[in-house]
This record gives sequence, structure tokens and C-alpha cells, in this order.
Amino acid sequence: MGEFGEYIRLGELGPKQKAEAWQTAIGLQDVDGLKPSPYLLDTAKRHIEGDITIEEVKELIDTYYKSRDSRLSSEDDRTEEADKVSARITELLQEETFSFTPAEYKRIHRRLFQGIFKFAGKYRTYNISKKEWVLDGASVLYNPFENLSETLDYDFAQERKFDYSACSTEESIAHIAAFTAGLWQIHPFGEGNTRTTALFLIKYLRSFGFSISNDLFAAHSWYFRNALVRANYFNRERRIVPDLSYLERFLRNLVLGEQNELKNRYLHISAQSFNPTTSKGQIGTLNVTLEERAVLNCILADAKITQQEIAERIRKSPRTVKRIMASLSERQIIVRKNGKRDGWWEVLV
Ligand SMILES: Nc1ncnc2c1ncn2[C@@H]1O[C@H](COP(=O)(O)OP(=O)(O)OP(=O)(O)O)[C@@H](O)[C@H]1O
Ligand SMILES: [Mg+2]
Repeated sequence: MGEFGEYIRLGELGPKQKAEAWQTAIGLQDVDGLKPSPYLLDTAKRHIEGDITIEEVKELIDTYYKSRDSRLSSEDDRTEEADKVSARITELLQEETFSFTPAEYKRIHRRLFQGIFKFAGKYRTYNISKKEWVLDGASVLYNPFENLSETLDYDFAQERKFDYSACSTEESIAHIAAFTAGLWQIHPFGEGNTRTTALFLIKYLRSFGFSISNDLFAAHSWYFRNALVRANYFNRERRIVPDLSYLERFLRNLVLGEQNELKNRYLHISAQSFNPTTSKGQIGTLNVTLEERAVLNCILADAKITQQEIAERIRKSPRTVKRIMASLSERQIIVRKNGKRDGWWEVLV
């Protein structure tokens, strides 16, 4: 939770307790489909910051719901901040630039939050914790503020060394999930880390050739965040270990077109015994690399697509596409039907 603002800065007593109370209250409410309104979050923030008393909070909320009864469109439900940031997400995704570096991660944060947060594009200078509904109010252990940039440098260097060309798509997805979870755990910024991680991940996946938009992230933003929480949380007494499977399910929907259910209640630490079945994508498990899978996705979307068009879609050279398709044909994963000119591709499963 914490949509209403900043983290609990460790050591600030009054506001901290208020923030905790609100986080718990809102977190408990925030089950699938039952989101607290931005107005409530804003009101909570004003209370935490000491602008208004709890009596005034109640009064304001009552008034709000009364006026809402007289029909406000759902457009009014969205905060200015969320609107602004969403517009910037779209803008950033229209730009093709990307570099796989901590500086890029920082740049994305700056671009998303400039003029909104004072610390846009700057690392935090204090430690944080954040109560999570999925963790029964516990917090993930975030990286200490003293070594944020060293940790980021290390994670990026490790990931850069990894050779995806030697991995199946499934293995690659698991590896990208682990990298993403690690990146998120660092939480270098005071606020806005999850959106920055989402944007970075979208751009990273695009660099492998996938056409990915923010839609799934926006529609399942709470699931995405909770999946990152579960990927990083351990509790010895309760025998809870970091679990990447939720994040992998999300990534499989994105990359493989699977339709796994993304429900927050599965992620609650008390719901561990529940193990929802995974769906299969349009094609079953094939032994192909991530890059090859990006080509197959293009063919599945349009059997008559040309190599030139594939190259444009996956942002690779025609030569690379040619090499990938020759290999897929040779392994009989794809086959050309009806000849060169008027034919189409079929994916053999
Ligand atoms: N990819 C996204 N696209 C659009 N809106 C998003 C996206 N991700 C999150 N949001 C919205 O942004 C708000 C803040 O989300 P949240 O607090 O979970 O993440 P964050 O502020 O980006 O990161 P964190 O709080 O972990 O530092 C929520 O209202 C959420 O619904
Ligand atoms: Mg936040």
C-alpha cells in the first residue's frame, strides 16, 4: 500500500503512527476490485501530515461520498498525480531510447516524476520500511540508503554478463523475474520505485524484441507490486521464503500470451496453500530462446507477415530475423505454406 504517498520514514513518530494506521486500514480494504478512492488517499495524506484532524477526515469523506452519489464520472476518480505520471509513461514508451544502466533507471524516475516529487531522479538519503497488506502488515527489507548506487551497479553488472542465448524462453523469464525483483528490492527512490521498475522492465523486454505496453502493468499494478513483495520477503518463523512464481506468472502473460489469473488474494502470506493452475499460451512449451519467441509472437499475430515487417516489429536487423527464421525452420518449429510469394507461416507445436 502507500498509494497516498511517501514511505514511513523511520524515526518520525507522530506521522509514522498515523501512516501505519492508514496503511493498515486501506490495505485491508484494498482486496481485488475494491480500491480506495484517490480522494480517500489524499485525505489520509493530509491527516498524516497534520493538516487535519481525524474528525475532519470523517467529515470530508462523508461529504465526498454524498457528492459522489450525485454522479461523478469515473474520470474524477483519478488523482492529478496518477494522471500526470500515466501521461509521462506513455510519452516515455514512445521514445525508443534505452540503455541497460543504473543511469537509465534514474533517468526514467526523473522523467516520470519531475515537478511532482522533489527528489525526482535522486536516490533517497534515509532508510525505509512499508507495511504490506499481503504480508499481514510486515515490510520487505529494503536496501540501506548508504550503498544504493553500489548495489545497483552490482546487479546491473551481473545481469549484463548473463547469456540469454543459451536459455529456453521459460528459463529466461525466470531469470528476468529474478533480476527485476532484485532491482525493485533496492528501492533507491523515496517513492515511485514500482512504476520506475515497470517502465524499465518494459523497455528491457522490448530490447529482446517483444512489443510490450504499459496496459497489463496499469491494469494489475497492485498485483505487480505484491508479486515483487513476495519475491523478496522471507520470514523464518512463518517459514515463508522468497517466491518468484507470482512475478513469473505475470511475465508469462506478458511474453507468452498466457492468461494466468492475477488475483491479489493468492499472494497473501496466509493463502500459501492455494496454488492456482497456470494457463497455457497459444502455443505450448517450445524449446526456443527469448529472441526466437519474439519472432514466433509476430507470426502468431499475423501469419502473412514478412521478414522485413518482423524486423521492424522486433527492432532487429533483417539479417538477424533471417538467421532466426532459418533456424526455426530447420528445427521444424515453423513451416512455410503455399510458397514464397502468397504463402504464410505456420507454427508447429
Ligand atoms: N504501470 C503503471 N501504470 C499506471 N499506473 C500505475 C502503474 N503502476 C502503479 N500505478 C499506480 O501508481 C500509484 C502508486 O503505486 P505504488 O505506490 O504501488 O508504486 P510506486 O509509487 O510506483 O512505487 P513505490 O511506492 O513502491 O515506491 C497507484 O495508484 C498505482 O495504481
Ligand atoms: Mg508508492
